[in-house]
Amino acid sequence: MKLATLSRRESLGAILALGLSGCEGYGAQDDTPITVPPLKSLASLPIGCAVMSAKLADPTTSTLLLKNFSQLTAEAEMKMAAIVAPDGRLRFSGADAIMAYAQQNKLRVHGHALVWHKHEPEAFLRLDGNKPAFTALYDNYIRGVMGRYRGRIPSWDVVNEPVNGDGLGLRATMWGRNFGDLGYIERAFQIARETDPSAKLFINEYDLELKPEKRLAFMQMMEALLKKGTPIDGIGTQSHINIDMPKGAAKAAFKDLASFGLPIHVSELDISFGHRRFDWRSVKTKRALQAEQMTDFVQAFMALPEKLRYAITIWGLYDSDSFWRVNPEDPNPDDEPLLFDGAGRAKPVTAAFANALGGIKSMTPANAG
Ligand code: XIL
Repeated sequence: MKLATLSRRESLGAILALGLSGCEGYGAQDDTPITVPPLKSLASLPIGCAVMSAKLADPTTSTLLLKNFSQLTAEAEMKMAAIVAPDGRLRFSGADAIMAYAQQNKLRVHGHALVWHKHEPEAFLRLDGNKPAFTALYDNYIRGVMGRYRGRIPSWDVVNEPVNGDGLGLRATMWGRNFGDLGYIERAFQIARETDPSAKLFINEYDLELKPEKRLAFMQMMEALLKKGTPIDGIGTQSHINIDMPKGAAKAAFKDLASFGLPIHVSELDISFGHRRFDWRSVKTKRALQAEQMTDFVQAFMALPEKLRYAITIWGLYDSDSFWRVNPEDPNPDDEPLLFDGAGRAKPVTAAFANALGGIKSMTPANAG
């Protein structure tokens, strides 16, 4: 990894910041406990959490999860890479474990995600370009997964991240190579609808708040798909946002997305400390900015009509679970994007989330310690 070389100005900034910040840190000085009511009790809509089945056996984790959340999303185990074996057989051990836990604890499950550009299983790659065989595998895969949980998973991310990361047009994918850039999306939704007519079918995307140009491309795609009669029932906005998101960005995004009149799922909410190359702000400052961002974001979402608010899902339980800490493109092991710290303690951002949901009238992140 290339070590960053600091300019003279940056070095001075670093020394100054270290002096000011001292040993600030959540566990060091801000030990004032923050208590919040069970988050799921604070809003009329489901509050979800992304999980990995292996962690559900831990009693502390399970207790914290069940206290605060009413919906689960499989972080990885309902995706193609987990389900489609190299020979094309479907395997469901992780997905079944999450379903069993959810059923036992009366939690709703959101299915994530049937088709995603990042997963190109060997069984499909082998058939790439062989249209009849590729089509048969594609259709049977969707039928196999949704069919297994028919009537038990009320909503699915049928297609995930179809728009280019830079927001310029649709992403080039193996799926698009075989069915066309819109065709693979249409087909997936049609087969999904046939397989489980009771399920709400979502299309899921990221950076719809952070990149207005990407949101425009997403909306143009939605218009084209809906015009073709594609059975899309809802929009998932992943909402991997950060403390530097411009004020009003969330409100503008929800206004645009709400124009389709479809339920919106905030499907992967986390608030990263940001991706600045050099960030001299103290941890305490970043936590305060994070709480402010959470307040603005949730208030903007809760201002939508109830019929347009499907759920809010947080992308993990503990900060130590966050994929932002290990994200290959931009890892930050000190990031604190989620609602509970490594010890399961609530944070200023948790109080802000609870408050914005309508739960804590008096407590604000400032007086939450
Ligand atoms: C991420 C998981 O959090 C990681 O554990 C995994 O290694 C890669 O996928 N958008 C999505 C999610 O839709 O499925 C991704 O989840 C994060 C970005």
